[in-house]
Amino acid sequence: MNEAVPRERVAIGVVGAGKIAERHVLAYKQLGVTDLYLFDVDPVVRAARSTEWQVEAVDDLDTLLGLPGIAAVDVCTPTSFHAPYAIRALEARKHVFCEKPLCLSTREGKEIEAAATAACRIVMVGYLYRFHPAFQFVKSLLEERTIGDPYLALVRLGGRGSAAAWKHTVGQGAGAMGEMMAHMIDLATWYFGSIDEVDPLWNATLLPSREIGSEVVPASAEDISIVRLRAGEVQILVESDLATPSYMQHIDIQGSNGSIFSSILHYLPTVVYCKEQRGIYGAGNSVYTFQQENLFVDELGYFLDAIAGAPHTVNLLQDSMHIVEVLERIQGMTASHYPPSEAVH
Ligand SMILES: NC(=O)c1ccc[n+]([C@@H]2O[C@H](COP(=O)([O-])OP(=O)(O)OC[C@H]3O[C@@H](n4cnc5c(N)ncnc54)[C@H](O)[C@@H]3O)[C@@H](O)[C@H]2O)c1
Repeated sequence: MNEAVPRERVAIGVVGAGKIAERHVLAYKQLGVTDLYLFDVDPVVRAARSTEWQVEAVDDLDTLLGLPGIAAVDVCTPTSFHAPYAIRALEARKHVFCEKPLCLSTREGKEIEAAATAACRIVMVGYLYRFHPAFQFVKSLLEERTIGDPYLALVRLGGRGSAAAWKHTVGQGAGAMGEMMAHMIDLATWYFGSIDEVDPLWNATLLPSREIGSEVVPASAEDISIVRLRAGEVQILVESDLATPSYMQHIDIQGSNGSIFSSILHYLPTVVYCKEQRGIYGAGNSVYTFQQENLFVDELGYFLDAIAGAPHTVNLLQDSMHIVEVLERIQGMTASHYPPSEAVH
């Protein structure tokens, strides 16, 4: 049986102390979690971040897993280390929150699933777009069939991705697909169901070197990827890149009774166009705006509730495994193309 862990008693171990770990640590603090521990393979990084974030640093994973009261491990390392850390945590009967994408391959995904089943523990992956009010509104519009039967979705996510060299390195699970497209495939499957067909249209490295801090590093991974997906009757064109100087994201869905445009960006509106009135939505455009949200607080609050025994129906392990499977198909890879999982510390 899954042992429920009340939020006020929860202790969390965060593994990896980079950009996204900072967002997680701040979110846990905002959510009232005071027992936080940090492990990073780099001793200088872990000492610096532990002082900066006011959390206790530990020297290795075994020490972290052996601490009294640790209920969950939050994996914030580069993607190539997700599976080994998630599995070690599950074997120690800890719940796991793992940053996206879940892992590098369906083979690793199955190993994580087996470990989660054996331990009766939750694995939730950081697909935070599902927690944005604009996208939840779009989900309800689709469920209410406000725009009729959807048949086409155009989906875009572009950003700089310049924070770390591994994000531009083949074999690390990054590039435009791992870093960006994973989020958009998740949104597409949440809206339209599992992906039946995959048609990679274009992958390229537009910027062969990247400025990371004060260094210029070569980029071997793709920084743009465009694919056509099909989920049931819906054709989905996904553009994702690490070549957009700032950040850009939007979705644009066409249906038999109209269109929906929306974005995670608070300065872009959500526009619902109806050919004919449906419910409260009159013919023509209805325009909505949504405030900026801390989605890390929303998703990690959901995770804390789930490990405390609340129903866990969003961002299930199976959803994340489907995304890995779709990415694997897009990348044209089989399990044998993957480098073996790297050793963890
Ligand atoms: N949900 C989102 O919107 C979002 C955004 C950015 C990144 N991410 C994901 O978060 C994860 C981390 O990304 P990031 O931007 O924080 O990267 P980052 O490079 O800033 O941080 C990674 C940290 O992990 C440490 N590390 C590397 N190998 C390790 C190992 N074997 N054991 C322990 N620590 C190790 C590094 O020293 C570094 O401090 C990735 O999976 C990425 O895809 C998610």
